[in-house]
Amino acid sequence: MQAAPPLLIRHATLPDGRQDIDVLMRDGRIDALGSALPAPEGIEQLDARGWLLSPPFVDAHFHMDATLSLGLPRLNLSGTLLEGIALWGELKPQLTQDALVERALAYCDWAVARGLLAIRSHVDVCDPRLLAVEALLHVKERVKPWIDLQLVAFPQDGLLRSPGAMANLVRALELGVDVVGGIPHFERTMADGAESVRLLCELAAARGLRVDMHCDESDDPLSRHVETLAFHTQRLGLQGRVTGSHLTSMHSMDNYYVSKLIPLLAEAQLHAVANPLINITLQGRHDTYPKRRGMTRVPELLAGGVNVAFGHDCVMDPWYAMGSADMLEVASMGLHVAQMTGLAAMRQCFDAVTVNAARVMGLADYGLAVGCRADAVLLQARSPEEAIRLRAARLAVVRGGRVVARCEPAQVSLDLPGRPGSVDFTRQAPR
Ligand code: FE2
Repeated sequence: MQAAPPLLIRHATLPDGRQDIDVLMRDGRIDALGSALPAPEGIEQLDARGWLLSPPFVDAHFHMDATLSLGLPRLNLSGTLLEGIALWGELKPQLTQDALVERALAYCDWAVARGLLAIRSHVDVCDPRLLAVEALLHVKERVKPWIDLQLVAFPQDGLLRSPGAMANLVRALELGVDVVGGIPHFERTMADGAESVRLLCELAAARGLRVDMHCDESDDPLSRHVETLAFHTQRLGLQGRVTGSHLTSMHSMDNYYVSKLIPLLAEAQLHAVANPLINITLQGRHDTYPKRRGMTRVPELLAGGVNVAFGHDCVMDPWYAMGSADMLEVASMGLHVAQMTGLAAMRQCFDAVTVNAARVMGLADYGLAVGCRADAVLLQARSPEEAIRLRAARLAVVRGGRVVARCEPAQVSLDLPGRPGSVDFTRQAPR
């Protein structure tokens, strides 16, 4: 993509509440930010009209190799994680490079339209052909001008349980996959799960890579691989570079044990990723009533000093039939499931799909500040909590200082006697 000419965004509200802010973008960076900036002669201007300008959405946990494959070769009847994994296993032999690329690119179009400009995607490495790895490495290059796509080598069928998985995973890293993944709770025994965590953390440390494991994605309160993950993170000096994804067993753990566990995670500077849309549908499937929610303990982790992001995880695939790349829908579900309804908590939910997720991915120069990359999304809302409430329209999406998607403010005409001719869903509560 050609370098964008300078762009001046006028009259924006920022997520921290600052109002009437101008942002000057030049050479792919934020060059100036403040009130009433002087407009260089002939510069392109975008009037934000007081709408919320945010750094772009970031999805810290996704599966782009499976996305948009819903119904292939059949639907998930039980709705469980395990049937989803089995179904994906049925589909794998039928995958083609072209179909994988086509679906991933279609999803990336959705993502850009939603202001989602950075995605960490796990990619299954248990197929010795590494078809999905090659397809997503191709997609990563194709979308680079508009999306930061980070790939995780993910042994879906188990590092030790699946023959050849370790060799395939190493090959994927050599081909250019960025992050080491894992799935300890799917190994045959607890001991194998712990051993897989050790092996994968040592592999990442030796190669200077980050780690992101699917960890304890079950309702089993005794699934404690996250403790092992924190231990090896400390032992190998990987602090701040390791993520535990899902961590749903924490929902069912004994409170005393969690009171010991959370400080251990904070000490290891482990990042946590909850996937609210998926956790609320996949977990608790073996319960009658009451049914557990199954999402990890988000407010408690945040209070304990752990960085927590929300991921989309799945869209129209063997595990989840819904979704449209909307991280505000993800934040909304996280807010509800975790009962994060206070003002500060609602803003934490917005952070979970923006700044916190950027920290998980280790994105450099992310944010709305001078020197940061000229990436942003203009939302038809006046505050982060209103953006979540309304799943606000993305009025403009800016990448590298260029508007790459835009839409008109949503408006509905009313025809009611004695009432205004249109309806405005924005409304601020008094503070
Ligand atoms: Fe996942």
